[in-house]
Amino acid sequence: MEIKNICCIGAGYVGGPSMAVFADKCPKIQIEVVDLNEERIRNWNNEDLSKLPIYEPGLAEIVKRCRGRNLNFSNLIKEKIAIADMVFISVNTPTKTKGIGAGKASDLKWVEECARQVAEFSVGHTIVVEKSTIPVRTAETIMSILKSSDNFHAKNSKSTFEVLSNPEFLAEGTAIKDLENPDRILIGGENDEAIKALSALYQNWVPKDKILRTNIWSSELAKLTSNAFLAQRISSINSISALCEATGADIKEVSRAIGSDSRIGSKFLDSGPGFGGSCFKKDILNLVYLAEYFGLPEIANFWEEVVHINKWHQQRISRLIVKKLLGTVTGKKICILGFAFKANTNDTRESASIKICQDLIEEGAVLFIQDPQVSSSQISLDLGKQENKELKNIKEKNLLMKFEGEWCYEKNIFSAVEGADSVVVLTEWEEYSSINWEEVSKKMRKPSWVFDSRSIVCQKKVIDANLNFWRIGDGTTTK
Ligand code: UDX
Ligand code: UDX
Repeated sequence: MEIKNICCIGAGYVGGPSMAVFADKCPKIQIEVVDLNEERIRNWNNEDLSKLPIYEPGLAEIVKRCRGRNLNFSNLIKEKIAIADMVFISVNTPTKTKGIGAGKASDLKWVEECARQVAEFSVGHTIVVEKSTIPVRTAETIMSILKSSDNFHAKNSKSTFEVLSNPEFLAEGTAIKDLENPDRILIGGENDEAIKALSALYQNWVPKDKILRTNIWSSELAKLTSNAFLAQRISSINSISALCEATGADIKEVSRAIGSDSRIGSKFLDSGPGFGGSCFKKDILNLVYLAEYFGLPEIANFWEEVVHINKWHQQRISRLIVKKLLGTVTGKKICILGFAFKANTNDTRESASIKICQDLIEEGAVLFIQDPQVSSSQISLDLGKQENKELKNIKEKNLLMKFEGEWCYEKNIFSAVEGADSVVVLTEWEEYSSINWEEVSKKMRKPSWVFDSRSIVCQKKVIDANLNFWRIGDGTTTK
């Protein structure tokens, strides 16, 4: 079966970049990305490529090459499903907030809605591909909707379907690189022809031996497990960072030593402020729910601890900041560098910065937050608190006391550190590693502290600039 037209439902962090790369690598295939959200689609179609809804290195160049050629963005869900031979489902699957499994299970209402739309509007034979990360056995739900005759429009009663699982492993910030050069492509399913059709698409740029075929349930579970393993490595190394600080060891040295063991490997061993992002927590909780559902509470407890430690670790950092700042941050100015959950993305979902800033605000600190890509409106939404722009006009340091527990956004790092008692680095943006600490020090109130939760700041330069320094997991300075 030859694929000529693809429709992707969901123009988010997964759907947008992955379809852009498909369009780039498969110029003969027409790709239509559809989304309910009109503003998002307007932004994808913006002439000004800096206004794309997602910031991802290399993405704008691809969109420039392909948009209007074989890559289109629209809200025409019905029309584009009707002409598609293959439909990717890339909609969000957030954790349920109420009902059975609340706080753990994935809410599949959007996936279900997509399946209903495909059932209603598709014509002829359609291969439906699950790209969203979903609980094991979701393909069954999709298939049962597709097969249920109630959903069929009379004229479509001859429509036929195949469902495949093809989870996406891209990481934000390196999405284009990951998509162009994946470690593996996983295709789960039973139908040979459908698998061959999807595999043929990838073979336009991915070597055949990297395309793995599994049964559909293994594919769904492999995606959850991949994320759970990665998150578990971060919780493991972060837990050891606390021990390093207590004992005089250094987490960077410990990481290097254990990472040189080829059985362990060196990646994903950077201790940080705690993992964030839309997937790790959600996918582990999903796994926890599945284990509970299948009567395996020990397994549920094992994985849930990875999430507990992550939350504890974030709190550990905010408590430590308060302790170092003489036991109180009330009315003290703290400059926060980085709000995104990692560098090279504007995404803040589950970012450690949210929890750490909320804790400091709760303690009465006055925060000046800087991030190269995250907007102040996004920070307001995440903190659940409006920015107080008046703060930027305050020249008299003592007046800050009146603004305890308030925050504002400051694009310029040097303005953000003016009169600050401390600087806290929470995202590993490249520009933070080359800050002129001599200049920063002149502007700060003494005694002043630099807290580096990402190990990207040069310790010597900070100390030479007469600033106190704390780095995550560095027991040699914090003991
Ligand atoms: C999401 C999930 O979080 C992830 O687990 C999964 O692997 C892929 O989908 P992401 O692309 O980051 O990841 O989500 P998001 O940026 O929220 O994008 C989803 C898009 O789907 C939104 O633009 C939303 O408007 C759209 N959508 C949702 C639809 O078009 N139709 C729907 O019925 C529901
Ligand atoms: C993750 C998976 O890597 C990807 O395969 C999957 O498709 C989606 O979820 P993502 O969340 O975009 O990708 O980013 P990732 O690079 O995995 O980072 C997640 C979090 O872990 C970030 O907060 C990051 O800062 C943190 N992290 C990562 C560390 O603290 N230390 C590390 O060594 C690596």
